Amino acid sequence: MNIYKQILEKKGHILALAPMEGVTDTVFRQVLCEIGKPDLFFTEFLNVEGFCSKGREKVVHRLDFRNIEKPVVVQLWGNVPEYYAETIEYVKTLNSDGIDINMGCSVRDVLSSGRGSALINDKVLAKEIIDVVKESAGDLPVSVKTRIGFDKIETEEWIGFLLEQGLDMITVHGRLSKEGYATPSRWNEIAKCVKLRNDISPKTVILGNGDVKDIGQAKEYSDKYSVDGVMIGRAILTNPWLFSGKKPEEISKEERVTTLLHHLGIFEKEKGNMDIFNSQKKYIKAYISNFDGAVELRTRLMELNTADEVREELLQFVS
Ligand SMILES: Cc1cc2nc3c(=O)[nH]c(=O)nc-3n(C[C@H](O)[C@H](O)[C@H](O)COP(=O)(O)O)c2cc1C
Repeated sequence: MNIYKQILEKKGHILALAPMEGVTDTVFRQVLCEIGKPDLFFTEFLNVEGFCSKGREKVVHRLDFRNIEKPVVVQLWGNVPEYYAETIEYVKTLNSDGIDINMGCSVRDVLSSGRGSALINDKVLAKEIIDVVKESAGDLPVSVKTRIGFDKIETEEWIGFLLEQGLDMITVHGRLSKEGYATPSRWNEIAKCVKLRNDISPKTVILGNGDVKDIGQAKEYSDKYSVDGVMIGRAILTNPWLFSGKKPEEISKEERVTTLLHHLGIFEKEKGNMDIFNSQKKYIKAYISNFDGAVELRTRLMELNTADEVREELLQFVS
């Protein structure tokens, strides 16, 4: 039984953390394992062309994870089927729980080369990629994360097509490729995907995605729209404790400070490279919030340049 069915059998629905490049890396996921772990993690996405180039060393870290994070699904993107096959030979050495193909990304650079959600407009290539991934994946379940259309809603055609490919799971973000975050995710269309699934491919698990704020809303949406599970993205930076069910106001400032210190510790252990310390500022903002004096402390922390300086400031703050 694949991991998605196992979670469903145990819990009735799946709560997943969305893949977010530059956010949901192994460091943050390891912290989340301690303060509120979802049923399922995804890695940041890895470009298969990048992996199969001389630049492999620069990109391969996107698939890093530790055993405590499991179950973890590896996410890949690209438009060259053979490169998927080559990348998956490496993926199979990692002990991950599944392979997800990104057919939803709408970032300009990704789209311009016909990858990510541009594949919605190229079913022939999309099918070729899915076939190669399924062939290469061995026992690992294969899934796709996508949207409801490119520049117009085409739920029946596109999701219907994906369902015919015998995928183990499809995650549907209820927006079009051309839309930013201003228009709401269309959960009615996501509900339509569930109906299509019931007709075309009953074995395929459907996750809904878009604008879910907390696990209460995720459970409400699971019931209301009949999805097997919900994937939550941006809300994790508003409340890293989200998957524990705790509200931001329930987390003390001491716990917030301790968690940031812990995050920095893991960051140094995993990356050991303070040149990229700026990349950690989004987490400072996420942890240091919702208490009296948070804004002032955060402002001071944002001006610092190294993890040691941040550590000193935090220790002073709680002493
Ligand atoms: C900073 C950022 C990075 C993202 N990176 C990825 C990615 O690597 N792969 C992917 O499939 N989606 C990516 N997404 C999209 C999210 O997974 C998710 O589909 C989207 O944010 C909608 O969910 P939300 O409203 O819960 O945030 C990213 C989104 C953000 C904000």
